[in-house]
Amino acid sequence: MKKTALIFGITGQDGSYLAEILLKKNYIVHGVKRRSSSMNTSRVDHIYQDPHDKNYKFRLHYGDITDSSSVSSVIEKTKPNEIYNLAAQSHVAVSFEVPEYTANADALGALRILEAIKFHKLEKKTKFYQAGTSEMYGKVQKVPQDEKTQFYPLSPYGVAKLYAHWITKNYREAYKIFACNGILFNHESPRRGETFVTKKIVSALCKIKEGKQKKLFLGNLNAKRDWGHARDYCYAMWKILQQKKPDDYVIATGIQYSIKQFINITAKKLKMKIKWKGKGFNEKGFNEKGYPIIQCDKNYFRPLDVNTLLGNSKKARRNLKWKPRENIDSLIEEMIKFEYFHLQNDK
Ligand code: NAP
Ligand code: GDD
Repeated sequence: MKKTALIFGITGQDGSYLAEILLKKNYIVHGVKRRSSSMNTSRVDHIYQDPHDKNYKFRLHYGDITDSSSVSSVIEKTKPNEIYNLAAQSHVAVSFEVPEYTANADALGALRILEAIKFHKLEKKTKFYQAGTSEMYGKVQKVPQDEKTQFYPLSPYGVAKLYAHWITKNYREAYKIFACNGILFNHESPRRGETFVTKKIVSALCKIKEGKQKKLFLGNLNAKRDWGHARDYCYAMWKILQQKKPDDYVIATGIQYSIKQFINITAKKLKMKIKWKGKGFNEKGFNEKGYPIIQCDKNYFRPLDVNTLLGNSKKARRNLKWKPRENIDSLIEEMIKFEYFHLQNDK
């Protein structure tokens, strides 16, 4: 019998990589997409199948993680072996602007799925993966962070995800659901949303180099992140659900760079020279001609920011036999290649 998976958040960066991984493993993959006024399926268009095809392996359903009835009915309809909850308002800065919606989607979303598993009596059949985040460590209490490190979220997003983390543990213990938390550190790819910092940097520097953009405006240049590749991290999600016992795992590379270092590495790969002058908010990056191409803008600073994140994924490496295949160089090179492909092929 083929296994069936249901992915909430299939149209996102991770949803698309996870769907590819599961299809390769011969799963039947169902995905939940929300209604939007313009198409939101570009990341999964290449694996889309005609719904009339009786031997389908991939199917999309309308639904919304903030709508209990749609969550419940898609779970009842598909009765999946595995559910991956990747659906979220995933932008930390935006969570300060729309905190209530973020809590509804990111905190209660997980509860809605767990309740539906229980309501439809799927506790023994359906395994559940919750997309947890290093953002829950926020004001870090220990370096590096592992599964035992105390959480201290610094954003409405982080706080909402912390609820989802604990409700997942709670349903695991109370109802014996095979429910797991991945605590994933930042992971990027060519499919990353345009407003996350790595994508913004790579995209802007490529355009600046090609004379299609003049300047890049950013916020906090000194924050440090532990960046991995989304494909590696989605493989870890699948591995987490294949273990004998449900558990929680940190997924990280264990290497950290600042935003400024990420810019410098990207610029070097593009053979661009950037000279930094000034301090703090007034720090600017100048090109060879002395023109400021990188500058801070107060709009990109957050009311609170997580200054440093560095993960210790020893447990995942030992129990899941997981380790990242990509590193910062291969990640940035792939992102640059993708950007250039679009610069040359899009109108
Ligand atoms: P993403 O690209 O922003 O994708 C989020 C997905 O959730 C999209 O498919 C989005 O649909 C969907 N979604 C948003 N609101 C929804 C709603 N109300 N109902 C149904 N679907 C909704 O995020 P990602 O980078 O793939 O991350 C996947 C998950 O991992 C998220 O939960 C994120 O918080 C978490 N996470 C991410 C990272 C990271 O570094 N990427 C690290 C740790 C944890 P649309 O396409 O229509 O917007
Ligand atoms: N987005 C953005 N835009 N971030 C900027 C900018 C800018 O112009 N300038 C500086 N930054 C800084 C942010 O202040 C933050 O410290 C860092 O760059 C990373 O920002 P993001 O790329 O937006 O990611 P994030 O770390 O806040 O959140 C991502 O990773 C989390 C895991 O730790 C998201 O994918 C979350 O969904 C995820 O949970």
